[in-house]
Amino acid sequence: MNSKKFLIKTYGCQMNEHDSEKISWILINMGYTETENLQEADFIIYNTCLVRENAELKVYGNLGALKQLKREKPDLIIAVCGCMMQREEARNVITKKHKHVDIIFGTHNIHKLPQLINNHLKTGQTIVDVLEDSREIVEDIEANRKYPYKAFVDIMYGCNNFCTYCIVPYTRGRENSREPENILNEIKELANQGYKEITLLGQNVNSYGKTLIRNYDFVDLLEEINDISGIERIRFMTSHPKDLSDKLIKAYGKLDKLCEHLHLPIQSGSNKVLKEMNRNYSREDYLTIISKIKKEVPNIAITTDLIVGFPGETEEDFNETLKLVKEVEFDSAFTFLYSIREGTIAAKMTNQVDNDIKHDRFQRLSETLNEISLGKNKKLMGETLEVLVEEVSKNNPDVLTGRTRGSKLVHFKGKNNLIGSIVNVHIENVKTFTLEGNIV
Ligand code: SAH
Ligand code: SF4
Ligand code: F3S
Repeated sequence: MNSKKFLIKTYGCQMNEHDSEKISWILINMGYTETENLQEADFIIYNTCLVRENAELKVYGNLGALKQLKREKPDLIIAVCGCMMQREEARNVITKKHKHVDIIFGTHNIHKLPQLINNHLKTGQTIVDVLEDSREIVEDIEANRKYPYKAFVDIMYGCNNFCTYCIVPYTRGRENSREPENILNEIKELANQGYKEITLLGQNVNSYGKTLIRNYDFVDLLEEINDISGIERIRFMTSHPKDLSDKLIKAYGKLDKLCEHLHLPIQSGSNKVLKEMNRNYSREDYLTIISKIKKEVPNIAITTDLIVGFPGETEEDFNETLKLVKEVEFDSAFTFLYSIREGTIAAKMTNQVDNDIKHDRFQRLSETLNEISLGKNKKLMGETLEVLVEEVSKNNPDVLTGRTRGSKLVHFKGKNNLIGSIVNVHIENVKTFTLEGNIV
């Protein structure tokens, strides 16, 4: 019996979080147990992200801090995996400047981890094993999921869109859909285990099914999941506006478990910038989708991603973004400062926006978005909303937190034994990012 402990630190998106759940499952099967205490760990894994520069810098900083620990504890194994390791430049930084790293692997070969650990233990050498891309979907890895009532489920891997700013297609490879049977079996098993909410994951879920031999699309999959008893809520991330079909909009009206929330990244409100980003839709296309979906589901929550300071973005372009944000009335948004990613098309553009201008626009956009979020939350005052109870509040042991179907975070008083159940909460106070109320 292996009594050794592992710690995984995850940087990046839900895909990476779910990959970490798989790595955790693999290690538990090897006899390791999980710890959150760095000092106590015998095996430390950093699952990295490359989407923006600060994600990358954080990894190098945190790795540097492990040097001393490794000196004190020479048997400590340090592994680095995830999106950064798919890039040769980043691997070279690790092998040259962070020689205390023992194992490097990528996003396509998580299943090989036991073999890589054994190779390292046998040879004492640094093991580097990265596949550039893979057509193979490995189905026999399960996940040690973080929560017992809500689960991530991969439906497709990779991305074919090559938005000019984005590194993801270079780290996650080409689009590849899982077979529906495998997805449905996984969800049925989750339902048997008591899971109530599932989030379907993919970089562009609307494109699900294109690599399957038979004619089967994202909505076909949603329909079958909606019939699985025990599952009460279905969510998905992320949608691309260019592939969002009328069939999906109609599905919201038909499928009772599909939550009234759509995360639909717009990135910019300027047609010129959208074109330079290679997004393949216009602001008008986006607004048409929004008006159709609001007609079908009047109470839908709409959230988005926005980038400020893309190369060549003028004050006029930025004002188009502000105008669009006000028109759509997003419930919330993730906003990012454009970050140069070597290897992408936008990195070579010569008209990069000045840092001060970027920060100023970021500030103005955040203020506008916050005002809108608060306004939208105020409309929920006095309503009774269905909430899946998730956990005890970190700040107050008497308060529970959970999410509405529209994905809003709610705080309310209640006992721990409600965690994992669905309750009705009467909303009595609202803030920009949270709602507060009482169970009725
Ligand atoms: N596949 C998803 C998102 C993947 S990355 C989609 O297309 O919606 C998540 C978000 O990071 C993107 O939506 C974008 O807003 C942001 N992002 C990606 N590359 C970036 C870059 N180079 N600089 C700043 N933000 C970036
Ligand atoms: Fe990146 Fe665009 Fe693919 Fe999303 S759709 S992962 S932003 S290239
Ligand atoms: Fe996700 Fe970051 Fe990779 S956003 S796909 S972990 S580059």
